[in-house]
Amino acid sequence: MNDTLHNDRLLRALLRQPVDVTPVWLMRQAGRYLPEYRATRARAGSFMALCQTPDWACEVTLQPLARFPLDAAILFSDILTVPDAMGLGLTFSEGEGPQFACPVRSVADIHRLFVPDPETALRYVMDAVRLIRRELAGRVPLIGFAGSPWTLATYMVEGGSSKDYARIKGLLYDQPGLLHRMLEVTAQAVTLYLNAQIAAGAQAIMIFDTWGGILTPRAYQEFSLAYLARIVDGLTRVADNRRVPIILFTKGGGAWLEAIAATGCDAVGVDWTVDLSEARRRVGAQVALQGNLDPAVLYAAPERIRAQVAQVLADFGPGAGHVFNLGHGVQPGVEPERVGALVAAVHELSASRPTGDGV
Ligand code: CP3
Repeated sequence: MNDTLHNDRLLRALLRQPVDVTPVWLMRQAGRYLPEYRATRARAGSFMALCQTPDWACEVTLQPLARFPLDAAILFSDILTVPDAMGLGLTFSEGEGPQFACPVRSVADIHRLFVPDPETALRYVMDAVRLIRRELAGRVPLIGFAGSPWTLATYMVEGGSSKDYARIKGLLYDQPGLLHRMLEVTAQAVTLYLNAQIAAGAQAIMIFDTWGGILTPRAYQEFSLAYLARIVDGLTRVADNRRVPIILFTKGGGAWLEAIAATGCDAVGVDWTVDLSEARRRVGAQVALQGNLDPAVLYAAPERIRAQVAQVLADFGPGAGHVFNLGHGVQPGVEPERVGALVAAVHELSASRPTGDGV
């Protein structure tokens, strides 16, 4: 897949190279806040059917790009497709979020876990990546993604979303060796899965560690970060003569930015609880930073959104190495016009700023 990339701001910024304006994309940029997404989802019948039918996955991936001049597309899929392919039986019921038919609840369940072959069990994802690359035709790069082993394990053990993480934390403190075994298999599965996405055409990779922030500093290092580092080590870093940047995002991980940056990733995602200028002072010489507007700012009026965007850009300051994003995903109740105001503000307000190397 060797087509010319017409807008490579995202890839450049992730590698801390100068750009004309700050690139912007949003976590959950395709999703329920868009009426056209809700219409396609209704036609598909279910969220899983959307994910598993490459034509539909491609259609919804491109929907936000048709509305807004975003600087990247992100593969439409879910982090939980990997445990689904490991035999856990994933369904999404309306209003209830993800549910596994066969959650991991016993020693035998853990010993049964296996590394799925991405080109068979997850072929639909690779087909979607190939189709999206073709349809994008080099307009913007395509981001592939996966969940962190720790975050996947929370869903695999709890059986779905959780409030107290009682089962997974019980496992962590009672039988850490068993949890390590599970994380080990899951890390291998994620590594293979991401390398298959890169081979299929993903041009940057993001790993979502949504629940790393619920851990103690020591447990974070041992049960989440160690596996993130192992995945970073195992990923293909160059494809089609271009570096494939890796972004690590631990929600609630603001206290551990130095440790995250030290994994060898190219960029660190930061949530809105972190001051971006401080984040930059701490790790900005080592990695690019992605973030970190509070997603709730999108409930405010366009001129307020613009002011908050200006603040995030000012917090990062001049120089290369910033990818604008929210600190977490776009929420379903947001009006699409507000997202338009955000994207326009990022490009307009960053255009006049010096973007030269480093500093
Ligand atoms: O960002 C994008 O636009 C790409 C698509 C994407 C989805 N999920 C689509 C989705 C990505 C990158 C994800 C990642 C994901 N999935 C994460 C990590 C990022 C994060 O948000 O922290 C997590 C934890 C999941 C697991 C998951 N998927 C949950 C808990 C839920 C239910 C809650 C919710 O937000 O609906 C989902 C469903 C889901 N994944 C939807 C979408 C668009 C909504 C499904 C629908 O009802 O149409």
